[in-house]
Amino acid sequence: MSSVVVITGSAGLIGSEAVRHFAALGMDVVGVDNDMRGYFFGADGSTQWNLQRLTKEVGDRYTHHSIDIRDRDGLDRLFSGLGANIGLVIHAAAQPSHDWAAREPFTDFDVNAVGTINMLEAARRYAKDAPFIFTSTNKVYGDTPNSLPLVELETRWELPEDHRWYGGIDETMSIDNSMHSVFGASKVAADIMVQEYGRYFDMPTAVFRGGTLTGPGHSAAELHGFLAYVMRCVMEQRTYKIFGYQGKMVRDAIHSHDLITAFEAFHKAPRVAEIYNMGGGRFSNCSHIEAFKIAEEITGLEARTEYVDQNRMGDHQWWISGTGRFEEHYPDWKLTYDVPAILREIYEANQEVWKG
Ligand SMILES: NC(=O)c1ccc[n+]([C@@H]2O[C@H](COP(=O)([O-])OP(=O)(O)OC[C@H]3O[C@@H](n4cnc5c(N)ncnc54)[C@H](O)[C@@H]3O)[C@@H](O)[C@H]2O)c1
Repeated sequence: MSSVVVITGSAGLIGSEAVRHFAALGMDVVGVDNDMRGYFFGADGSTQWNLQRLTKEVGDRYTHHSIDIRDRDGLDRLFSGLGANIGLVIHAAAQPSHDWAAREPFTDFDVNAVGTINMLEAARRYAKDAPFIFTSTNKVYGDTPNSLPLVELETRWELPEDHRWYGGIDETMSIDNSMHSVFGASKVAADIMVQEYGRYFDMPTAVFRGGTLTGPGHSAAELHGFLAYVMRCVMEQRTYKIFGYQGKMVRDAIHSHDLITAFEAFHKAPRVAEIYNMGGGRFSNCSHIEAFKIAEEITGLEARTEYVDQNRMGDHQWWISGTGRFEEHYPDWKLTYDVPAILREIYEANQEVWKG
């Protein structure tokens, strides 16, 4: 079996978890990351610390390339060198923030959309049969989830229990006629292209549309990294700005470990041109108010929050992923982390780094 996995965004949250996981399974991991997160979000966002940790932990099984995914020729050289040894591609490098995308739309589109077709084309030329996994986002549905008939409860917005998506929104929600934000639109372009390379070129591609992805590998920054940033603010006694919806907007959260075991399942039994909504679902979700309450319980500290009565453009008021399609295709896969477990782990992993 081809034993190399190429992982882009390998120093980021999802990429680094994937590196560790597949290296532990005995695969050689080739990572691509140019620390562009530091450019997007400044020093808080740089993933250099994670790369150093990773290189130390994984050792010889890991080779790093600081290639920019916008560099088509650079990717072509990398893929042509590895060729048929490539058994899996995980494309997780991206510009991940709505707010940042509006500042530099060209850069956002070049990284998210053009970077993805660069990866697909390199894979088609040199590793056509290798499963190709793309980390998309629930933002491809734009603000359509906000038209759901939500009711206001004490600490959260919620769908009525008899609603067909109470258990989570599935992949039949339309991606058209909604506001996506510039970021959401560049991810739509990439998402559709990954599906197209599956259908048109018969490649084993899969699009995972993530809700909130989280875990200890997150370089928590204000513009990206919800639960890690909640915990960081409480631990460092920084003020967290909550934007709109009374702080009751609901997110489901999936730990990077649980996402990567889903990737592993797809790798073992790939399919063509799949899309999956992927998140913590009913098992793991919270509102902002609920997240702070849990973080306060874990740390014993009081959270400092400031409410801004203006929601972010295109932000979801309520999102819980319906993971039924994936579970039907891969019945052995299970979620193992809920929100308190995720927050506790972030707390424990960062005690030395985030001090008040
Ligand atoms: N974290 C979330 O909540 C979330 C939710 C839904 C979808 N996603 C998607 O999952 C994927 C991974 O997210 P993450 O949280 O691990 O992000 P991350 O920012 O932690 O990691 C992405 C990595 O990609 C690198 N990178 C960015 N631009 C690059 C470029 N041009 N060339 C090479 N490397 C580059 C960054 O330096 C960073 O290390 C992204 O596609 C993101 O859109 C994330």
